[in-house]
Amino acid sequence: MRLLDLKERIEEHIDQISEFTATPGKGTTRLTYSQEDLQTRNYIKSKMKENGLKVKEDGFGNIFGKLEGTLKDAPSVMIGSHFDSVPNGGSYDGPAGVVAALEVARLFVENKFTPKYPLEIIALVEEEGSRFGGGLMGSRGIVGLLSNDDFRNLKDKDGVSTEEAMAKIGLDPSLPRIRDPKTMKSFLELHIEQGPILEEKKIPVGVVEAIVGLTQLEVTIKGQAGHAGTTPMDRRADALVTAAQIIGQLPQFAVAEGEGTVITTGRLNVFPNGANVIPDQVVFSVDIRSGMEKNVLNVIEKTKELIDSFNKDGIETSVEQLLYIQPKELNAGIRSLLKEKSEGLNIPYCSINSGAGHDAMVFSDYTEVGMLFIPSKDGLSHCPEEWSDSEDIAKAVQIFYEAAKSLTEAE
Ligand code: GLV
Ligand code: MN
Ligand code: MN
Repeated sequence: MRLLDLKERIEEHIDQISEFTATPGKGTTRLTYSQEDLQTRNYIKSKMKENGLKVKEDGFGNIFGKLEGTLKDAPSVMIGSHFDSVPNGGSYDGPAGVVAALEVARLFVENKFTPKYPLEIIALVEEEGSRFGGGLMGSRGIVGLLSNDDFRNLKDKDGVSTEEAMAKIGLDPSLPRIRDPKTMKSFLELHIEQGPILEEKKIPVGVVEAIVGLTQLEVTIKGQAGHAGTTPMDRRADALVTAAQIIGQLPQFAVAEGEGTVITTGRLNVFPNGANVIPDQVVFSVDIRSGMEKNVLNVIEKTKELIDSFNKDGIETSVEQLLYIQPKELNAGIRSLLKEKSEGLNIPYCSINSGAGHDAMVFSDYTEVGMLFIPSKDGLSHCPEEWSDSEDIAKAVQIFYEAAKSLTEAE
């Protein structure tokens, strides 16, 4: 298959999937178990079926398309990524990896390769955590890091539970959930870089060496609601003023820690959110990341201490940790295999680390994991301007196709 034909096929998928957004003209908003999730899911499943893959969903709504191998009950070589998005995000974060996986399977079928080990294309839910918080939900669920109770108790901002939301789009939460690691031989994920390095270096492919450790905290500040006009300034317990004082001090913790440590508050909900009402509750997120676990732990401690110090004068604070995941080094054997295949195809590559979290980091404790990045235009991601060249995705597909042939021992 010529690179340009592959590029065209990839572009068609991306263009089609980008139509499935709740915010047309304002980027991709595809929340888990929404109508846009259903439209994308149906598209992915139909493409899997067109390629003769056996399609299944699990009790989280993750999608699996399997090309059986000749070995009986053998573990699968899995390739995929997620298909949810952040609010007003781009068309590539997640879907680029799903589309690449679909095209790898299509090349197997078109070129009549029969794998010994099954090839399994996977499309995962709620990697971003944009609807139910935390993130990496589909992959954490598969490996058993999310109990049935934990899953059932997750609610979106309107109080809708995971299982209620699943039922609304016809998904069956009673399907099997956890997967025995013995059924996984390896996992490959293609993702856009979401940063500027590959574009600056003019290199089409990055082989990911390691992924940052990260945490997501949810902070709740409670105060006392009251009238904005009649309550004197010295008689207030204003939850939003407290939140603002806290949030304003957080960046300095990451700066002091150094070594690429970052901290972000990206979500903040104010209650009751009336212009003339003193806010009685504010809930906000704190996302902390670093390539070194000690940095993340230090900043968590300082953040908690700071928040705790505001627990007075009618203000009550609490912190819940929604996600904690250590930095992960990806599998050395798969990294070498990806480099060898890039060289064989004459595709320039470099090593790179990931500052974003990925489902690959969850799987890396259970199976052999490898990841490729492709350049992001202007380094932008999690915004409507996010763009990557489908020709680079096509190059990554060629590398994964060769790597998957080796890993599945296809003939
Ligand atoms: C996912 O995009 C993350 O890194 O939070
Ligand atoms: Mn993302
Ligand atoms: Mn992503």
